[in-house]
Amino acid sequence: MPDRQDVHSLRKLLTEHRQEHLLAFWPQLNPDQRADLLAQIQELDLAAANEWIATLVKGQPEAPLQHDFEPAKSYSPLPVNDDLRRKYREAINLGESLISQGKVAALTVAGGQGTRLGFDGPKGNFPVSPIKNKTLFRIFAETIAAVSERYRAVCPWYIMTSPLNHQQTVDIFKTDNYCGLNPRNVFIFQQGTLPNFGFDGRILLADKDQIARSPDGHGGCIRALARSGALADMKKHGVEYLSYWQVDNPLVRLFDPLFVGLHVLDGAQVSSKAVIKNGPKEKVGNFCLVDGKVTVIEYSDLSDELAEKRQPDGSLAFQLGSIAIHIINTGFVERLNTKGHSLPLHRAVKKIPHIDSEGNRVEPKQPNGVKLESFIFDAIPLADRSIILDIDRSEQFAPVKNAMGEDSAEVTRRMMIERAATWLESAGVKVPRKADGSPDCVLEIAPSFALDRADVAAKKDKVPPIKPGDTVYLA
Ligand code: UD1
Repeated sequence: MPDRQDVHSLRKLLTEHRQEHLLAFWPQLNPDQRADLLAQIQELDLAAANEWIATLVKGQPEAPLQHDFEPAKSYSPLPVNDDLRRKYREAINLGESLISQGKVAALTVAGGQGTRLGFDGPKGNFPVSPIKNKTLFRIFAETIAAVSERYRAVCPWYIMTSPLNHQQTVDIFKTDNYCGLNPRNVFIFQQGTLPNFGFDGRILLADKDQIARSPDGHGGCIRALARSGALADMKKHGVEYLSYWQVDNPLVRLFDPLFVGLHVLDGAQVSSKAVIKNGPKEKVGNFCLVDGKVTVIEYSDLSDELAEKRQPDGSLAFQLGSIAIHIINTGFVERLNTKGHSLPLHRAVKKIPHIDSEGNRVEPKQPNGVKLESFIFDAIPLADRSIILDIDRSEQFAPVKNAMGEDSAEVTRRMMIERAATWLESAGVKVPRKADGSPDCVLEIAPSFALDRADVAAKKDKVPPIKPGDTVYLA
């Protein structure tokens, strides 16, 4: 039970920071609620909040880019000369050796709300595979199991959730028996949250005893990895590299030996996969070089003029799109934490439910405030070195983001079927196709059957003949 002195000094402090309204309903709260609210207030970094209010809530949103920048360079999906052929071979060998030694772990960021998809519950539980309706989590789990089997290695999986979906995520894994993985190798941890602000700089109350807060962005994983004990766990198990991806992409190639190997050979601390953008305005981050450092500039921050700029051969000047797939050194995560380096915050103007000064619930129809979040790609320029590997989109990137249209589950399923078809065809299997070229069958390849084309080629004899209209599941 907080004593009077505590409350008095807190009220004084809050008044100095123009946040005294957080105690407005104090007389109406019971002792437990009071203790809870007090703890929430004590956790606030009011000095930092003042700065955020000045620069991000009331102030101008992020200064426009003031530095000179140019397009970043990347490794191409396939080596283009003998030197690179040698280097890619060396990288694959090195990557395979590091995976076999258990030095690579998987890291999924899954703390987002998935509002655009309109799916209730953690996005990882979204059923997406074309025949078995496997969820995103299950596809990743089966992939990790297959990688682990291929390399006879322990491949630990770290999953970041947020208070919005942590318990549900844990329950899903428990109910699904960790999708067949050893629970000891699945580490589910929570990211932090940040308070939400009204446009006037006041912190919003979600209830009389609750400060409105939201997850601190996928960049929050840097801090959360340290605070949750995940980093210490990695150290204990000798993990040196994290294969990072977003929960929305079922085509992701986890534990990619080429990517791991190139990253390590080049002495990088954070590296990224990229796709060639499908147009100047594709809604993905752009890889640029700012003051010589690889930096991601969000599509919304790249001027139309630069987005449209072309090279002499007609291709886009800024053509490398970020797909949020990275290799991150655990030592780099540790370094960022010990140096107290927090990633910069970005503002997102949102409709934020809250209570008004009378204590009435408000469900705003228009944006009424600001949420703050950090982005993992802001860690890239903090690295001494960073490489980019350009990959073939149809092989590795089909995110489920929207309920309909672009990046919808329907598009993702189509891409999963198409990838299965091309893997089978490259192994010499005949796949019936419609007049428009799309597969005239529904295909699903389980990770236990094949992780890539080479696996399919090796198991070609196990594939039954495929007739038009067939549904074929390979496991
Ligand atoms: C993101 C990237 C964009 C990239 C695209 C590729 C940003 C701002 N943009 O867009 O550059 O081209 O993906 O698909 O990131 N998450 C958390 N905690 C949070 C917020 C998000 O774990 O607090 C996770 C989500 O669960 C999801 C991922 O981060 O796995 C991406 O979040 P989302 O907000 O969906 O990013 P996009 O706008 O799709």
